Amino acid sequence: MALKGLILSGGKGTRLRPITHTSAKQLVPVANKPVLFYGIEAMAAAGIEEVGIIIAPETGDEIRAAAGDGSRFGVRITYIVQDEPAGLAHAVLTAEPFLGSDPFVMYLGDNLLQGGISDLVQAFERNEPEALILLTPVPDPEHYGVAELDGDRVVALAEKPPEPKTNLALVGVYLFSPRIHDAARAIEPSARGELEITDAIQHLVDAGARVEPHIVQGWWKDTGRLDDMLEANRLILDNLQTRVEGELVDSTVEGRVVIEPGARLERCTVRGPAIIGTGTRLVDAYVGPYTAIAEDCLVEQAEIEHSILLAGSQVRNLAGRMESSLLGRNVKISRDEGRQPRAYRFMVGDNSEIGIL
Ligand code: DAU
Repeated sequence: MALKGLILSGGKGTRLRPITHTSAKQLVPVANKPVLFYGIEAMAAAGIEEVGIIIAPETGDEIRAAAGDGSRFGVRITYIVQDEPAGLAHAVLTAEPFLGSDPFVMYLGDNLLQGGISDLVQAFERNEPEALILLTPVPDPEHYGVAELDGDRVVALAEKPPEPKTNLALVGVYLFSPRIHDAARAIEPSARGELEITDAIQHLVDAGARVEPHIVQGWWKDTGRLDDMLEANRLILDNLQTRVEGELVDSTVEGRVVIEPGARLERCTVRGPAIIGTGTRLVDAYVGPYTAIAEDCLVEQAEIEHSILLAGSQVRNLAGRMESSLLGRNVKISRDEGRQPRAYRFMVGDNSEIGIL
C-alpha cells in the first residue's frame, strides 16, 4: 500500500506575530524558501506521490497559491480545510477521507528536519510498527511533547509537561498506520483544549501497539519563534552552493553566496553564507553571514548580518549594523538626515519589536 503524506499547515502562528498577522507561519521563508516547501520536498525525495495539506480557513488561500497542485515538486497535493485549530489529532481525523486506510507520514508544516525522511520511510516499511516517532534531546523539553523510553520501547508520552521526566522531545515528523484514526477518536481534548497527537500515540502504547522511537541524528528545528527562525536560516544557509547570477558593480562576494538573477549590487560586500533574491538592489551596503534577503528589497548605506528580510523591504542610511532581525514584507527602515525636527518616526503594526541604538 502506498504511503501518503500529510502536512499540517493550519493553526494560528501566534508566536511569530506580527509576521503571521498577515501571512501563514509556514510560508515565512528560510534561506528565501517557505518553510513548508522543505517538508514537501522531503516527501517527494522519499518517493511519496500523494500529499494532503491541512489548511486553516484564514491562511489557506495563500498556501494554495504558494504550493499549487504540487507538480513542481513532483507530487499531487490535495488541500484539506480544518475549520478550527483543534489539535494535531483533530487534523488527522479531518484528513481521514483523504488518507483512507493508507499508512502515512505526518509532517508539521513549521518544522525543518535535516537529512530528509527517506530512511524513516524505509524503517517504517521494514518493521511495520503502528507508529514511528522521532525524538531528539533538547534543553527545554517542557515546550514540546516528551517521551519516556524503556530500552527501544516507548512507554509514556506527555504533551508539554511542566516537569518533564526526560529531555527527549517529540520532533514534528511521525509515521502512522491507519490505526491512529481510532486512537484519535478515543481521546479527549487536553487542558489547552486540543486533541493532542501525543495522547493518541499514548493510546496506541496503552493498547499494546508497537510504537518505534528513532533518535534524530542531524539537526531539527521547530520554526515557531524568532530565534528558531534565525537559527533555521543559519543551518540551511550553511549548506548553500555558491551561485552568482545577478549583476555586480564594483562589488565583492566572499564565501558561500547566492545572488539570484535580476539582483544588482553596487559598491557592496556580501560575506556568505548569504542569499540575495531576484530584483533586490544593494547599494553601498555590507551584508554579512547568515543573512537571507528576499525578492525586490533595497539595502542602501546600511550593514545587515544574521537576519531575514521578506520581499519588498527596504533598509536605508542606518548608523549602526542591523543584526538578528526579521523584517516582514514591504517594511521600510531608514534614517532621515537633515529633516527637522530630528526625531524617531515609526509606523509599526501590532506586536512588533524594535531595538534602537
Ligand atoms: O514541533 C514539535 C512539537 O509540535 C511537538 O513536540 C509537540 O508534541 C506537538 O504537539 C507540536 O507542538 P506545537 O505546540 O509546537 O504545535 P503547533 O500548535 O505549533 O502546531 C504544529 C503545526 O501544525 C503548525 O504548522 C500548525 C499546524 N496545526 C496545528 C494545530 C493545533 C494544524 O494544522 N492544525 C491544528 O489544529
